[in-house]
Amino acid sequence: MRYRVPLASPMSQSVSDSQSLPRPVRIAGTGSYVPEHVMTNHDLEKMVETSDEWITTRTGIRERRIAKEGEFTSHIASEAARKALEMAGITGSDVDLLIVATITPDTLTPATACYVQQHIGATHAVAFDISAACSGFLYAMEIARHAIGAGVYQNALIIGAEKLSAFVNWKDRNTCVLFGDGAGAAVLTPSTNGCGRILSTTLGTDGSQVELLNIPGGGSACPASPCGAPEQSATLAMQGREVFKHAVNAMRAAANRAVELAGLSITEIDLLIPHQANLRIIDAILERIDLDREKVFINLDKYGNTSAAAVAIALDEANRKGLIQPGNYVLLVAFGAGLTWAGAVVEW
Ligand SMILES: CC(C)(COP(=O)(O)OP(=O)(O)OC[C@H]1O[C@@H](n2cnc3c(N)ncnc32)[C@H](O)[C@@H]1OP(=O)(O)O)[C@@H](O)C(=O)NCCC(=O)NCCS
Repeated sequence: MRYRVPLASPMSQSVSDSQSLPRPVRIAGTGSYVPEHVMTNHDLEKMVETSDEWITTRTGIRERRIAKEGEFTSHIASEAARKALEMAGITGSDVDLLIVATITPDTLTPATACYVQQHIGATHAVAFDISAACSGFLYAMEIARHAIGAGVYQNALIIGAEKLSAFVNWKDRNTCVLFGDGAGAAVLTPSTNGCGRILSTTLGTDGSQVELLNIPGGGSACPASPCGAPEQSATLAMQGREVFKHAVNAMRAAANRAVELAGLSITEIDLLIPHQANLRIIDAILERIDLDREKVFINLDKYGNTSAAAVAIALDEANRKGLIQPGNYVLLVAFGAGLTWAGAVVEW
């Protein structure tokens, strides 16, 4: 029997909105990294009772990347970070704020950001993690842009990084086919020359739904040791159908709200980068917002759901493919455990 996280309270939904800051902040560089090893749907057919056809039609996922032994979240994060720093034209020692968004840290403490600080030589950076599941990268973006906007920090490095393969129950076909490993990063700096800025963000949390998606074991509620929690309690547990409905509603609302706060209409958005969990979730959102399908960036077929890394990897891939040009409006939306959700509009 699985350990169940007790429900603490009734509905506790809260939303926080913000618009462009007096000291605007831009994305100066992006980077991403995925481990080399590819695990296909056919590989999964040999592990659980599933089929390539089921996974492809229900999710759109064809393959995912799996970190090798000894490759931890901080290593994956650091690879993505190096590429973002290079694009931004700065080095690790120029970074003064380093935030890693992850639900699969190297260790419960210290923060994965502290390992990354060492790996990339970010010796002048204040470094910490945040845990907001698949919305983590956009939560990190919100913290960093306010920190820069307030004039306290100059160069923030934000990273969404996950080694979900270490927290997936490989005997549970309901979840193991969905997730993968990877990292995406971005460098945020003040927008001094008027080119590029984050126009709006909206974040939301509903703690009344903690039970829909969680890793119940390994924390203080059910420590991994010494009480000997059942092995599977430290793996992802999910009520898929319920999560699906919440994901569609929350991301649709976040998309509309972020666009409204940016003073735009949805038809002015040049590229939508949604959380890469399930193609059917993205399709359901598109049915509810007035945006052409060719304006949506999708790479979940290659990587599955990489949680906090998903939006960040997609942003970097779209950027490096030249799909985002100066002056373009990019809409980012995410949804994850918590429940959490987030939206942001960036003028490139
Ligand atoms: C998980 C998800 C793909 C399942 O798709 P679904 O259409 O809702 O499927 P259901 O849960 O209704 O399951 C249908 C059947 O497929 C089975 N099934 C589940 N996983 C399967 C798999 N990998 N292979 C084959 N069959 C599977 C179920 O056991 C069920 O069988 P039953 O009808 O005999 O009970 C979908 O609910 C989903 O994507 N949810 C959101 C997940 C997510 O994005 N989480 C992260 C959010 S950040």
